[in-house]
Amino acid sequence: MNLNKRITFILNNEKISAEVAPNLVALDYLRQNRSLTGSKEGCKEGDCGACSVILGEHVGDGLRYKAVTSCLLPMGELHGKHLVSIEGINLDDLSPIQSAMVDCGGTQCGYCTPGFIVAMTAGLMDESIPLDDSGVDYAISGNLCRCTGYRSIKTAGRTAIKELKSFIVDRPRIDALCESGVLPIYFRDIPSRLSAIPAAQIDSNFKAPFIAGGTDLFVQKGEELPKQRASLLNMTPVNPIRNENSYVFIDAREPFESFGRNPIIKKYIPSISDYNDAIASWPIRERATLGGNICNASPIADMTTLLLAMNSEILISGPNSEHWLPLSKFYLGYKMLAKTPEERVLSIRFPEPEKGTFINWEKVSKRRVLDIATVNSAARLREENGLIASATLTLGGVAATPLVLSDASKKLIGLPLTVEAIKPVIDSAQSEFDPISDVRGDETYKRLLARQLLWVHFQMMMHEKIDEGAFDEALR
Ligand SMILES: Cc1cc2nc3c(=O)[nH]c(=O)nc-3n(C[C@H](O)[C@H](O)[C@H](O)COP(=O)(O)OP(=O)(O)OC[C@H]3O[C@@H](n4cnc5c(N)ncnc54)[C@H](O)[C@@H]3O)c2cc1C
Ligand code: FES
Ligand code: FES
Repeated sequence: MNLNKRITFILNNEKISAEVAPNLVALDYLRQNRSLTGSKEGCKEGDCGACSVILGEHVGDGLRYKAVTSCLLPMGELHGKHLVSIEGINLDDLSPIQSAMVDCGGTQCGYCTPGFIVAMTAGLMDESIPLDDSGVDYAISGNLCRCTGYRSIKTAGRTAIKELKSFIVDRPRIDALCESGVLPIYFRDIPSRLSAIPAAQIDSNFKAPFIAGGTDLFVQKGEELPKQRASLLNMTPVNPIRNENSYVFIDAREPFESFGRNPIIKKYIPSISDYNDAIASWPIRERATLGGNICNASPIADMTTLLLAMNSEILISGPNSEHWLPLSKFYLGYKMLAKTPEERVLSIRFPEPEKGTFINWEKVSKRRVLDIATVNSAARLREENGLIASATLTLGGVAATPLVLSDASKKLIGLPLTVEAIKPVIDSAQSEFDPISDVRGDETYKRLLARQLLWVHFQMMMHEKIDEGAFDEALR
């Protein structure tokens, strides 16, 4: 069975038109088919960043570049895009980032170094990432090093930014980076060269299994997928988030990163960027979609706990019909979904939050970044005249599926916003879930975390009105 498809894209400075297996990951293509071995294979699970590449794609009228992990990036997605490996940013001399890595002692065995250089360069290419120390941390959040220690790597990034900042701030970023020797000058012509590639024929005949961002699937089935037929869903949605009829509609293919940067989402979920900081790493968030998070059905799926609290519904589409379903009714048991394998989730919608609504999301994990939750939780609470007018509390990591605490949410309605009124509800919420002990924590620990995270929502909501001591007392 020949699964190959012809795709045309630009690899570094070269236009490629090739027949490839759509589910072959870019890392294997670069190393095996092109002998470009600068991108390293570390974990092949999106965890180490040694394979980092930069992906450029048209978004609206412009070309946007981002860091992604090539070990989870299917080749079938690259048609009409610019794939940049470490070889594509090498110049005759060292770039300011490469020089800073040498000068600051940011490399020892060197295995992780191309990944760090690629991530730092991509960070400079993304105008939303600040040109300061925090921007360096953001850009390299998906990169691990087992020898050097992060201090010298961060110092290298910070030194390079200090040197470059005055030169690139307030200027078209790619031009400025070409002039300052961070990028080769061929980058300037990439937009017109990409525009000359005819659009791919849209294959609307979607057949299961579906691959969205691939950040779960390639980790689970990385060896088998290149030999299998599957439908790639992640074709850069147009106008992915919109308001309509008092709802916020989101294309299910929307990745976490652009969800978190979207002005509509920021308006209703003001701390969304902080939440994103605790979810995976920048390169993974650029690929991980909301639809994939929902359909992977992990009990600790971070965005799913938030979307459940937002009272979301999902649009399920099959070969012959479409219907909306409350997300809370989607999970029938561990990894069991209220849809057939042929059905896709097309869209997510939640009611626009009314005035007085407070939204909060919390996560406890072993590491601050690049880690999955031990327990996570979200709340959507609305206050009217000092009373709770509506409430949805959710928890992840304490049952076989992400969970809405239906009883506790109902019991909260009509209660005054006081520690004394809320305490019995949070205490009784313990009967709504049944955590199992696993490597992330035993049952007792998870119950304790769940209780504390539920309290944190109220603490955040009421912090100006309530004495901290009252919460400390309640948490005992
Ligand atoms: C290093 C790393 C760190 C991670 N950290 C986190 C974390 O902190 N928090 C977290 O929640 N997750 C985390 N994840 C897991 C993963 O990134 C998310 O679950 C992500 O949302 C999956 O989305 P995807 O688009 O990549 O899904 P895919 O891998 O493409 O798909 C996952 C499943 O959903 C199905 N699917 C996808 N989209 C649809 C659709 N529209 N309709 C029907 N079925 C569909 C696929 O067929 C597959 O079964 C991490 C993953 C990695 C590799
Ligand atoms: S090889 Fe580790 S993230 Fe790709
Ligand atoms: S220098 Fe050896 S892994 Fe980073």
